[in-house]
Amino acid sequence: MSIQHHEVEPALSAAPAGSGQAVPVSAETAPFPQRWPLGTTNLRYGGDYNPEQWTRETWIEDIELMKHAGINLVSIGIFSWALLEPREGEYDFSFLDDIMGLLADAHIDVDLGTPTASPPAWFFAKYPESRPVTRDGLPLGFGSRGMASPSSPEYRRAVAAIAGQLAARYAKHPALVMWHVHNEYGAPVSECYSEHSVVAFRQWLQVRYGSLDALNTGWGTTFWGQRYGEWSEVDAPRTSASVTNQTQRLDFKRFSSDALLACYTTERDVLRRFTPHLPVTTNFMVTNCPSVDYWKWAKEVDVVANDHYLKAERRDNHILLSMDADLSRSLARSEPWILMEHSTSAVNWQPRNIAKRAGQMARNSLAHLARGADGIMFFQFRASRYGAEKFHSAMLPHAGQESRVWREVVELGRDLGSLLAVRGSRVHARVAILWDVESFWAQDLEWHPSADLDHRERIEAFYTVLWRRGVTIDFAHPHDDLSAYDLVLAPSLYLIDQAGADSIRSYVKGGGRLLVSYFSGIVDENDAVHDGPYPGAIADVLGIRIEEFLPFYAHQVATLDDGSTATVWADDLALVTADAVVSFVDGPASGIPAITRNAFGEGSAWYVATRLDPAGLDSLIDAVLRDAGIISTPLPDGLEVVTRSHTNTSFTFYINHSASDAEVDSTGTELITGTRHTGTVVVPAATVRVVENASA
Ligand code: GAL
Repeated sequence: MSIQHHEVEPALSAAPAGSGQAVPVSAETAPFPQRWPLGTTNLRYGGDYNPEQWTRETWIEDIELMKHAGINLVSIGIFSWALLEPREGEYDFSFLDDIMGLLADAHIDVDLGTPTASPPAWFFAKYPESRPVTRDGLPLGFGSRGMASPSSPEYRRAVAAIAGQLAARYAKHPALVMWHVHNEYGAPVSECYSEHSVVAFRQWLQVRYGSLDALNTGWGTTFWGQRYGEWSEVDAPRTSASVTNQTQRLDFKRFSSDALLACYTTERDVLRRFTPHLPVTTNFMVTNCPSVDYWKWAKEVDVVANDHYLKAERRDNHILLSMDADLSRSLARSEPWILMEHSTSAVNWQPRNIAKRAGQMARNSLAHLARGADGIMFFQFRASRYGAEKFHSAMLPHAGQESRVWREVVELGRDLGSLLAVRGSRVHARVAILWDVESFWAQDLEWHPSADLDHRERIEAFYTVLWRRGVTIDFAHPHDDLSAYDLVLAPSLYLIDQAGADSIRSYVKGGGRLLVSYFSGIVDENDAVHDGPYPGAIADVLGIRIEEFLPFYAHQVATLDDGSTATVWADDLALVTADAVVSFVDGPASGIPAITRNAFGEGSAWYVATRLDPAGLDSLIDAVLRDAGIISTPLPDGLEVVTRSHTNTSFTFYINHSASDAEVDSTGTELITGTRHTGTVVVPAATVRVVENASA
């Protein structure tokens, strides 16, 4: 084993790939890097690859199989820190040199991981205070994977060192096209309550508030006698006797996201010094990481990369997949993005790991493509024989090439080849759903009016109605300029700050259509109730005032005067300038409006004060879409329709998730079968058709 000794600081000299010699490599000042992996003009196809689990003979076989399947990108090195730096400051790149060389020879590009999601045993043995600590004060042990304390100076120094070594060594390597920093920041550790974190939290608060007085005001510390006299008294919001100060908890969530982001930017900046020509990314989990504010993060990556895994037991998991893909595209601000991980079949970490059946993997993959992804990647290429993920599916399963999964992997590679023209085309949405993780964080804290309030459930319900109608959705932050949208929906937006309220107000005033659902616009950025009647942030826009919340009993059902039913919630609501559209006929809000519409400026703002049954929600959304000039009808059950377009060409994806064939009106060339169609296209059960129409 060849060991090289280096300083712990980010190295400015290292050996070029494969040479075994140390030569100086100068760090350059970074111009803004490429925003897409360099090299091939194909759609990107591949997955995580963990060669360290296999012999060199297997690598050779794997590379042949990758070529056969049309794979052009693999993410490697993600969990290799212990091999690459077996002792602090001692590096051994022999295995990476070897595999990178083999991949380069095969023209398979490398998305090189920095291995910092899994620090080696020596790191925790030497720096035990860098272990993450739970809210209950438990320091987490070694023997799994996951973060160190994000605020540990030793961790930050160590990640910069290994990232610098990798960048210096492989900067000019022909296989290297992109950097994959860390792995899924925020999972499994997001909030860390170590002493390092407490110190960093205080510093973060000093920047946010400027003075202790401002912090005391922002946190409302006169309540329950929590006033602070010294900064040193301020702690992380540890498990406490009763409900912990909610603003403190909200700020700790903001801080934790920022602390993780600082780990990412530390590494990214080191990488950029050596490889300003290469894009840097990290893999997000856009709808599934409760601890990271991806709107902030998306500004710091060169390419948005997302990992998505089906909720195996949900029958509507293909709809949730679309939502995830739409959010990924929105975070990418409609630039192409990469699906960095998904599974060919079952995962291994859910209660029941339901396998995908024939065609499902391709439908899943092409649904991401349809919604703006230009790269389709999997976890992982070859299934692991040992370790916690040995029962996770892979592109090459334990069953080997004689398997449905491998045959479908090869077929998907071929189909992606037929879909090359789609690359770089854009998805255009006329409707946006507001998505703000700060609001979700605040809403999920304790002691709210009903345990049945669930922002995720509401967003999924609204999204599902639109998906079934083939209406494509963007997600937007409330601070965004919303004026490009014909309709904006806020299915659940408990926290709206002044900037958000101003943005929403000017959107409607300028002619936009808005639909807001209950328990939205209630608090400001400090989780303090806006002055006056609910929903204080936007009461004028909605033209209503709410005197009191009227949550339902569990399972209580009320009737509305349009015949639909309602559960969970009502408001004791009075009309100010709005009109009643539908009212309750019974329940706690009997006789009170359940749906209102307010003409405001050039636009209109609708409000729904309850959880409508699915048919009621569909007819409300249909009415609001019409108000916005969008005519849609429900599609055949299980049919997903999305269009991507270049200036003069459109590509309409028809994804048939049902067990029966569907016939759609469409004219153009179907790219997967290469057939020209005039008038109609049959989309066989469980398959995908993509029609290119050159006159769009
Ligand atoms: C992802 C993770 C991968 C692998 C995969 C299994 O969240 O990034 O390393 O663990 O899950 O589904």
